[in-house]
Formats: sequence, C-alpha cells, structure tokens
Amino acid sequence: MIKSQGWDWKIVKDDPKSIWKNPSMESFYLLNRWKSSNKKDFLDLGCGLGRHSVFFAENGFNVSCFDISEDAINRTKQWCEEENLSCNYQVGDMLELPYQDSSFDCILCMNVISHTDTNGMKKVISELYRVLKENGECYLTLGSKDTWGFKEDWPMVDANTKLLMVEGPEYKVAHFYADYPLCKELFKDFEIIDIHQVVNYYEHDDKTNSSYHYHLLIKKTN
Ligand SMILES: C[S@@+](CC[C@H](N)C(=O)[O-])C[C@H]1O[C@@H](n2cnc3c(N)ncnc32)[C@H](O)[C@@H]1O
Repeated sequence: MIKSQGWDWKIVKDDPKSIWKNPSMESFYLLNRWKSSNKKDFLDLGCGLGRHSVFFAENGFNVSCFDISEDAINRTKQWCEEENLSCNYQVGDMLELPYQDSSFDCILCMNVISHTDTNGMKKVISELYRVLKENGECYLTLGSKDTWGFKEDWPMVDANTKLLMVEGPEYKVAHFYADYPLCKELFKDFEIIDIHQVVNYYEHDDKTNSSYHYHLLIKKTN
C-alpha cells in the first residue's frame, strides 16, 4: 500500500470565493436527504478547509471533521469557532479511522478517497463500512479512468493508480482511477443507491481538459 499523503494546504489562500470555502452543489441535496431521514452523526472525511463541516454543523448535525493534514484541521477548527459551531476534530489517516464501529449515520468523502492506490482503496472502503451505522449512508467521489490525468504519462503505482505531476497542493499525491465495473466490484458489500459520472471542464496549459468523477451514494445494509 502506498504511503498516505495529504494536500499541502499551506499554499492555498483562505479566499471566501474559492470552491474550498463554499459547499458543493451535491451537499445541498444531501443535507435535505439526511435531515429528512433524521440522520445526526456526520463524518466529513477529508474535510479540507471545512466547507462541508461548517455547512452541516450550522444545520444541526453532530459533525466530526477528519483529515490527514494538520493544517486542514486547524483551519477547519478556526472557521467553526468563528461561526460558534462546536465539532469534533481529528487528524489521521483514512486507512485507519480512529472511530468505533457503527459511529456515523452519514459520511461525506468529497474528492478524498482517490488519494491512495488499489490496496489502499479496498482498505478505505472497509473502514467506511465499519464506521457506518446500519442503514447509514455515504456519498463519495472517485476519479474516473475517462479523466485526462489517467491518460497522462505520469508514474504508475499500479494498474489503477498514478502520481499526479501537476505543481500545486496535490503534487505527487497518488490518484486512483476507476471505471464502472470496478466501482460495482469495490462497493459490492453496500447497496448502491445511485452512481453517476460528472464531467468538469477547465483550461490548463492553453487546452481544455475534462475531469471525470464517479459520484456514488451508498448505504450499509445487512
Ligand atoms: C480535494 S481535497 C477535498 C477537501 C474537502 N472534502 C472538500 O470537498 O472541500 C482532499 C482532502 O483529502 C485529504 N486527504 C488525502 N489523503 C488523506 C488520507 N489518507 N486520510 C485523510 N485525509 C486525506 C487531503 O489532505 C485534503 O484535505
């Protein structure tokens, strides 16, 4: 298993307009879904600067903020305190979550769990299963093999994993990429409520890149 490496958030400014300071579009749907089904205990796995921790905490959830980056956790804590929100904060590795079995009603892993290799991915998924309560749900994103990055000549770690070679906060961080059959195989112990692919377009080095991610909503059933 490749050694886990988080983002270098020190080089990312606290710009209130940046995507990292504003909840994702999906989180509005999830807030509504999980509130209306009386879910309470929420894990923001790989919380980054805390955009979803703040969003769910200000809407009444018991929030656990978790990231391998100490800087991410410090900045999330500071933001929550500024908003008078009280959360649980923990630095650690998603490969070994520091939580007891059946701790959470709902988990969000937005652009996080692909930061490992194939063996690491299997371990993270087993950890998600372990810490979810029965009937608990998890929303997660996975890099797709349709993404431009998977076609780049970057160092391969295994058949599904490359080291990202773009200067920035995730330089040389492992990226795992899946296709639809692999998604189904990886999450076979869960009920897959929804799986779809999202394409984001952006300009890079004077060309248009398209970045594809699978989004999965999964449930722990018996
Ligand atoms: C793309 S950022 C996403 C942050 C946040 N989920 C959001 O949507 O704003 C990925 C985050 O995952 C964290 N991360 C990467 N590998 C991790 C690991 N092994 N354990 C815990 N967190 C990890 C990084 O440090 C980073 O904060």
